[in-house]
Amino acid sequence: MSLALAMSMLCTAAHASKDHPVIGFSIDDLRLERWAHDRDYFVAAATKLGAKVYVQSADASEERQVAQLENLIAREVDVLVIVPFNSKVLSNVIAEARRNGIKVVSYDRLILNADVNAYITFDNERVGELQAQGVLNKAPKGNYFLLGGSPTDNNAKIIRQGQMKVLQPAIDSGAIKIVGQQWTPDWDASKALRIVEDALTANANNIQGVVASNDGTAGGAIQALAAQGLAGKVPVSGQDADLAAVKRVIDGTQAMTVYKPIKQLATRAAELSVQLVRDEQPKYDTTLNNGSKNVDTVLLNPILLTQQNVDVVIQDGFYTHEQVYGRGADKP
Ligand code: GAL
Repeated sequence: MSLALAMSMLCTAAHASKDHPVIGFSIDDLRLERWAHDRDYFVAAATKLGAKVYVQSADASEERQVAQLENLIAREVDVLVIVPFNSKVLSNVIAEARRNGIKVVSYDRLILNADVNAYITFDNERVGELQAQGVLNKAPKGNYFLLGGSPTDNNAKIIRQGQMKVLQPAIDSGAIKIVGQQWTPDWDASKALRIVEDALTANANNIQGVVASNDGTAGGAIQALAAQGLAGKVPVSGQDADLAAVKRVIDGTQAMTVYKPIKQLATRAAELSVQLVRDEQPKYDTTLNNGSKNVDTVLLNPILLTQQNVDVVIQDGFYTHEQVYGRGADKP
């Protein structure tokens, strides 16, 4: 059999049935709370559309994620939906997927320098703006520490751009001063705890605001502040509306979080993936350049969550009243 014939069979095999597409969903790290929500909503939506989904968690390892993607290609999926652990190391494996006629969707985080078909996310710059504003509202003056997300996650950089857009005027006026900033590898809460412990020591606890980029790292920062009797006195930002973070917003130890309706993101991603397999034309909001191409992009709106609107996560069905307020609490 000629190579060309084998390749064409391989390609046709990858598209065995457009009525029942096979989707490979490759997630950076299911140990981080929010991605279990993404997985459950995505699988439910894709299944309703007649698709079959293989879910893999790379547990924050780029080697494992590449190996899992290779395996999904060998299993002849029709489309790969990827939350990259490292946005910069998937060019080759995605090129291999595209050679096999497999479509590729960048989910929530943009994969750089790779031939992806589409990107779907929330406006990450807007997330950063909401975080910085949430801390400024509580601490308009003083020393700030910037607790960034994972240095391997392109979102962390975009979130920081949004934060600086809001903080820069206060820096320029001298109202606030950035006394330190660090990225948090793997968005790891225990690493965030140690980073903020060190920052408090280096500044003799003279820190008036911590701009943290997601709820896991915010939790680590608040633990470090609590050890110094500063929890609730130093505003801390977050993102993802993790259940523990929503409770911290209620009790005042976290200034705000950003609620991103994950059901909307995951459902749109499932629809988009199936449309790509069926060669239907999805609706995009914009294009974003990933270093090698302008990628068709769906951009969803994040929602500021503070003590004033905590119930949005209950009205949206993201959590139950009991989960947020505990059993027996009187309903508002
Ligand atoms: C980012 C994502 C955030 C948060 C973080 C930790 O890429 O935009 O919502 O989930 O990862 O997983």
